[in-house]
Amino acid sequence: GKYRVISTKSMPGTRWINLLIEQDCRLEICTQKKTILSVEDIISLIGDKCDGVIGQLTEEWGETLFSALSRAGGKAFSNMAVGYNNVDVNAANKYGVAVGNTPGVLTETTAELAASLSLSAARRIVEADEFMRVGLYDGWLPHLFVGNLLKGQTVGVIGAGRIGSAYARMMVEGFKMNLIYYDLYQATRLEKFVTAYGQFLEANGEQPVTWKRASSMEEVLREADVISLHPILDKTTYHLVNKERLAMMKKEAILVNCSRGPVVDEVALVEHLKANPMFRVGLDVFEDEPYMKPGLADMKNAIVVPHIASASKWTREGMATLAALNVLGKIKEYPVWSDPNRVEPFLDENSRPPA
Ligand code: GLV
Ligand code: GLV
Repeated sequence: GKYRVISTKSMPGTRWINLLIEQDCRLEICTQKKTILSVEDIISLIGDKCDGVIGQLTEEWGETLFSALSRAGGKAFSNMAVGYNNVDVNAANKYGVAVGNTPGVLTETTAELAASLSLSAARRIVEADEFMRVGLYDGWLPHLFVGNLLKGQTVGVIGAGRIGSAYARMMVEGFKMNLIYYDLYQATRLEKFVTAYGQFLEANGEQPVTWKRASSMEEVLREADVISLHPILDKTTYHLVNKERLAMMKKEAILVNCSRGPVVDEVALVEHLKANPMFRVGLDVFEDEPYMKPGLADMKNAIVVPHIASASKWTREGMATLAALNVLGKIKEYPVWSDPNRVEPFLDENSRPPA
């Protein structure tokens, strides 16, 4: 291979590997056992000559790495993620390295996990499963694991971009929930969908669903029964959900986070969960991954999963393919647009914060 491309992790599928090899690349996949590579680890992987790197959201791609990559002749870096809060895009620009992410292929998969957490929290699936396994079930009872009926309740979405809108549709269509959302941008297609679905229900003699675009995030927090967070993480969304905003939510609300951990003040959340046993959360992401803030793991009203929202086979293979195409597209003018799996080029400039 003429071009040296590094992947800091092994990734699912073989298509991404074949794409790179067929296009004259020598691919090196890091096999270090360590889960999270340090900046020093990655510098030694880059070495003296490296044309492009596929990296992971657990790595800090800043000045140090982009300057090392540029010195090694590198032209492209792709994050295997839709989020790029771990990437300093200005530093990449400064060193002439193009940056890519992998949007699109994970939209539905991530929305499905947010829906799974919403349902699991509403019906207390995890608590009930634990109860069965430890042998506590000794017969049906009217009070046993009573949860919330979603039908007719209101789902709140903060950040109605691709993932937030897909989640909203699932909850509205699947469970006949009303929608309230907050985003700087109007989610026109989503609004049209809910209107049309409401008309369909009405024509069938059912209660129609409704939508509302909130004028503030607080309005969503006050009114919704289930709230899912879908902003990108940046300075404006850090601790978006804090102590004061948790206090605005209904006592029996459900909060779901499949975006980035620091969007929620996790210490304040643990306090809120302790003080409000009927309040439930479903969390895929945490402030200090892989750690949880003290006390969170003991809360029965919290469901916690290890950042798996994009973890379906189809999606992870698609992300790997997009990451390879991002790198190829820069190092050798590969015709990325001819690929049907290609969703968007390079850094997704349409991703935007909700506030
Ligand atoms: C996963 O968290 C991603 O950003 O793709
Ligand atoms: C519950 O199992 C019922 O039959 O109502």
